[in-house]
Amino acid sequence: MTDKSAFSWHGKRVFLTGHTGFKGGWLALWLAKLGAQVRGYALDPATEPNLFTLARVGSVVEDVRGDIRHADTLQAAMSGFAPEAVFHLAAQPLLRLSYEDPVGTYETNVIGTARVLDSVRRTPSVRAVVCVTTDKCYENKEWEWGYRESDPLGGYDPYSSSKACAEIVTAAYRQSYFPIAKLGQPGGHSTAIATARAGNVIGGGDWSTDRLIPDLVRGFLAGEPVRIRRPNAIRPWQHVLEPLHGYILLAQQLLTVKRDEAAQFATAFNFGPWDDDTRPVSWIAEKMRCQWDDGAKWILDPDPGVHEAGYLKLDASRARADLGWTPHLRLESAIEWIVKWTKAWKTGQDMQAFTMKQIEAYESLLRS
Ligand SMILES: NC(=O)c1ccc[n+]([C@@H]2O[C@H](COP(=O)([O-])OP(=O)(O)OC[C@H]3O[C@@H](n4cnc5c(N)ncnc54)[C@H](O)[C@@H]3O)[C@@H](O)[C@H]2O)c1
Repeated sequence: MTDKSAFSWHGKRVFLTGHTGFKGGWLALWLAKLGAQVRGYALDPATEPNLFTLARVGSVVEDVRGDIRHADTLQAAMSGFAPEAVFHLAAQPLLRLSYEDPVGTYETNVIGTARVLDSVRRTPSVRAVVCVTTDKCYENKEWEWGYRESDPLGGYDPYSSSKACAEIVTAAYRQSYFPIAKLGQPGGHSTAIATARAGNVIGGGDWSTDRLIPDLVRGFLAGEPVRIRRPNAIRPWQHVLEPLHGYILLAQQLLTVKRDEAAQFATAFNFGPWDDDTRPVSWIAEKMRCQWDDGAKWILDPDPGVHEAGYLKLDASRARADLGWTPHLRLESAIEWIVKWTKAWKTGQDMQAFTMKQIEAYESLLRS
């Protein structure tokens, strides 16, 4: 493993898909703070309000609007920028929406991923690619053990299966066009590709529909009781900065890896929370309610809605052993950070400065 402290993102050219979204917005701000030169490529923000606008993400990265399904615009935006690293986060990430629009979900998550990798194929400057999928890419067996990277892929619903497909597409591109044996060889290539599977990500600035934290925030702000489906469903919750730290570490390794170590990093990595932060939905709702105060309430929705996994846990041993990655923010603190972020927004604070302050606070946890 390379010496992490010796690596600098300063001046590195990074192509980031999905910068107008929740995780992409946080990642764009963090990479810019680290000194990277970032070009973001995504559709317009999908919600109002949204993190991109509130935190003025477009003021610290180059903001390109385009569709990952459109080969020509994507190719021009990527190769015209000559990035060294690509983070691919753009996706249709909502499980319930995937039931309403399965074909659109497959087009974006599967064909879109193939388009991104195909653009990488035609952009020789790229040395590291991190494709973001999800914990839901595993065939869910409803068991209490964490899924490992070697467990079978699957996915009951269109979203989960589209992300499993994105994993398969990425592995096929790696084997067919960027084989590890030819990395850095004369007549070979110089691109190392990995995938990252994170848990249920929470943080300030997410307004997506049908997600627990945004639903709670919307209801609490409106002073209405929030209806909670599936209170007993167990998920690996984590603050958004936790997996983003993993993606950044992974890209650093891919950028610096020696050929004989490449197989260790150009592969799939889980980034999940500590075991005891894998909690039921009702635990999160209750903690949010207590920290929010102001008479916030949630009630049980007897309609469980569409099929969702009941029990989902990730085993992040590989990320710990190979990348030196561990979670640093306990779930209870993550909820406190979300409440603080949302209240800062409601009281008219500068949300770019506030978001950067939370990134700085997280960086000091990493140093401690
Ligand atoms: N939020 C979570 O809990 C979670 C958990 C695991 C994995 N993920 C994955 O992380 C990534 C980011 O998720 P998020 O929560 O930030 O989602 P988000 O909906 O907030 O952001 C999605 C981003 O993708 C872009 N996008 C969507 N379709 C596009 C298209 N056709 N062309 C170009 N851009 C397009 C959007 O414009 C937006 O910038 C996704 O790949 C998602 O599957 C999210």
